[in-house]
Amino acid sequence: MRLDKFLADVGMGTRSEVKRLIHQGAVAVNGSGRISPKQQIDPKHDVVCCFGTELHYQKYVYYMFYKPKGCVTARKDKTHKTVMDYIDVGRTDLFPAGRLDLDTEGLLLITNDGTLAHNLLSPAKHVRKTYLAKVDGCVGAKEAEAFANGLDIGDDTPAKPAKLVILSSGEASDVEVTITEGRYHQVKRMFHAVGREVLALKRTAIGDVTLDAALSPGEFRELTKEEEEALKAGKRE
Ligand code: URA
Repeated sequence: MRLDKFLADVGMGTRSEVKRLIHQGAVAVNGSGRISPKQQIDPKHDVVCCFGTELHYQKYVYYMFYKPKGCVTARKDKTHKTVMDYIDVGRTDLFPAGRLDLDTEGLLLITNDGTLAHNLLSPAKHVRKTYLAKVDGCVGAKEAEAFANGLDIGDDTPAKPAKLVILSSGEASDVEVTITEGRYHQVKRMFHAVGREVLALKRTAIGDVTLDAALSPGEFRELTKEEEEALKAGKRE
């Protein structure tokens, strides 16, 4: 592959930015700086360094991020910290696959794989998203049945049937909700539709990938090969 494509794919910048790096002399191939952006390299055998650090070719990368409350799911924001401010891996091509509200915490996938992101988000693919929610009031069988039937949440079409498991109920209730879409404020709007308010919301799983209990809010790690394969296999409801 061309050297400039290699550098762009590993996140060193756009094609024009990496050309500049090459012309500045920041890049070496097999120890030599006498290189051109067009030159062909073999990512398996050639050693490419930028500012003295060896670069390893990985076209697509997948991170599990524990989004804390109070940061926005966007690449840039004028007022708040964004989720991308936490992912300091030196790549410029990453984006969040899906979104969580400012006050929602939990599992967010960060990747540069547009196809996977599309598949995870597409309602047609039915990928499960699981949330723990604290809800005001006593949630019971009536709400679980309404969720299972598919609720009118004010859109053109009702929300698809969702699974509601009641973990505890009382003045406030703890529940686990599983949905297969990702509409705007979906979980909060589903509870509104049955006259309840979400007090706290945390996403715990996407498909078969579960938020790692070893991560604290704001931390991330690469997906394991098994997790990556599970997401790509698109295990569904
Ligand atoms: N549903 C919501 O209401 N908010 C989220 O952040 C995610 C799902």
